[in-house]
Amino acid sequence: MSEAAERGRKYDGSRMSRTPFQALVLAAGKGTRMRSGLPKVLHRLAGRPMLQHVLTAVERLLPLRTVLVAAPDNRLALAQTAPESTVVVQDPPLGTGHAVMCARPLLEHFQGDVLVLYGDTPLIRPETLNAMLARRREGDDPAVVVLGFRPADAAEYGRLLTDGAGMLERIVEFREAASSELAVGLCNSGVMAIDGAVLPALLDRLRNDNAKGEYYLTNIVAIARAIGRAAAVVEGEADEVLGVNSRSELAAAEAVIQQRLRRMHMDNGVTLIDPASTWFCADTRLAQDVVVGPSVVFGPGVEVGEGVEILPFSHLEGCRVAAGARIGPFARLRPGAQLGEGVHVGNFVELKNAKVENGAKINHLSYVGDARVGAKANVGAGTITCNYDGFGKAHTEIGAGAFIGSNTALVAPVKVGDGAIVGAGSVIAEDVPADALAMTRGPLTQKEGYAAEYRRRRSKSKVTAIKS
Ligand code: UD1
Ligand code: CA
Repeated sequence: MSEAAERGRKYDGSRMSRTPFQALVLAAGKGTRMRSGLPKVLHRLAGRPMLQHVLTAVERLLPLRTVLVAAPDNRLALAQTAPESTVVVQDPPLGTGHAVMCARPLLEHFQGDVLVLYGDTPLIRPETLNAMLARRREGDDPAVVVLGFRPADAAEYGRLLTDGAGMLERIVEFREAASSELAVGLCNSGVMAIDGAVLPALLDRLRNDNAKGEYYLTNIVAIARAIGRAAAVVEGEADEVLGVNSRSELAAAEAVIQQRLRRMHMDNGVTLIDPASTWFCADTRLAQDVVVGPSVVFGPGVEVGEGVEILPFSHLEGCRVAAGARIGPFARLRPGAQLGEGVHVGNFVELKNAKVENGAKINHLSYVGDARVGAKANVGAGTITCNYDGFGKAHTEIGAGAFIGSNTALVAPVKVGDGAIVGAGSVIAEDVPADALAMTRGPLTQKEGYAAEYRRRRSKSKVTAIKS
């Protein structure tokens, strides 16, 4: 599905009757284990900052408002990435409960639900968030609905302690858990749907008398129970609540997201010959019957039309390819490459900011940048557009039906007219009129028998040369 269509098709759940909600995305943590100058939630997955994945999932459910809890030092970068969110600053970070307290002015007198998410849990799906909001509305009116999961290794996650009926009683943090509690396999993902009408009262009762001296948001569950409200668990897949704290976890999350994207494209009618070696960006758009060979990489901003064949080891980024084109193997399409219908771009061809019109062919070993190649033109092997003079860029124009001989240098700005022929090995630094022949070649010199005589002479002197 195209990205526009994906956006247009708001998640079906939004049509279900449910309480309006605000989303609160926590992202003020230090992220020290990433060992990075970049804020953790801005590290990319499938070419897009982690944070944007969370926002995209939540925005499919049409929140009244999305609030981002940032730290003083990542506030600006986060606001830039999420221009539609309201940013509040938490300073200093005193825990997940404290992070929610920082957004309190925006939550006061709010009767809807509050959905709390983590900026470092980017794989969450809208379907799951919707299930949580739906659970919030059920007859027992739970004040808090927590997204639980059962990881293979519960490690340092908080544990969800339930009663005999499966209702949530409290959450115990890893550091505070007794060994019997650590044996519980049901873990806290951190994602919660909370009744906004009681949230301020729950926050009022949070204390920081615990192992880390922090205000744990997780404690609102026990507090809700203490004031006579229910709390519930919705279980999700371990994959989708994977939290990213380190580069290894970032790679693990990337693997999950690539897996999802591969399946999505195949479901949409794209053939991936070797899915495991095909790398996508979240915004890659491929039409039906596109065939993608092994080890093809899609960078951001690629749109490919019907029936296009992309042969192995090609790299595409910021480009549009019309129906029926054939690309690669080993082709590189850089930003601004626009290929018309039926265009062929072959091995070791690099295109940048170049419009290649219908049926044109650039089949071998070329660089075409800042250029237009007219319909059905043929650009021979080793043709280079010399678009850069060390200071600025200039444009090359190749007319429709023109034929550029192999190993031609086109020194931009330059124009080759429609139907013109350029002889192989030329350096073209002046415009060529339509239908003309242009070539720049030194005269051919031939000396008959010279090569044989030369070999004879050299082979005699060889022994002496080495001895001396
Ligand atoms: C938290 C949960 C734990 C759960 C785990 C799931 C609490 C007390 N514990 O632990 O039960 O199993 O997540 O991954 O909630 N953040 C702030 N401000 C803060 C602290 C954190 O904005 O003062 C943000 C972080 O940026 C991050 C999220 O909250 O996005 C979680 O914080 P983190 O410190 O990673 O919590 P955990 O110790 O993993
Ligand atoms: Ca964490």
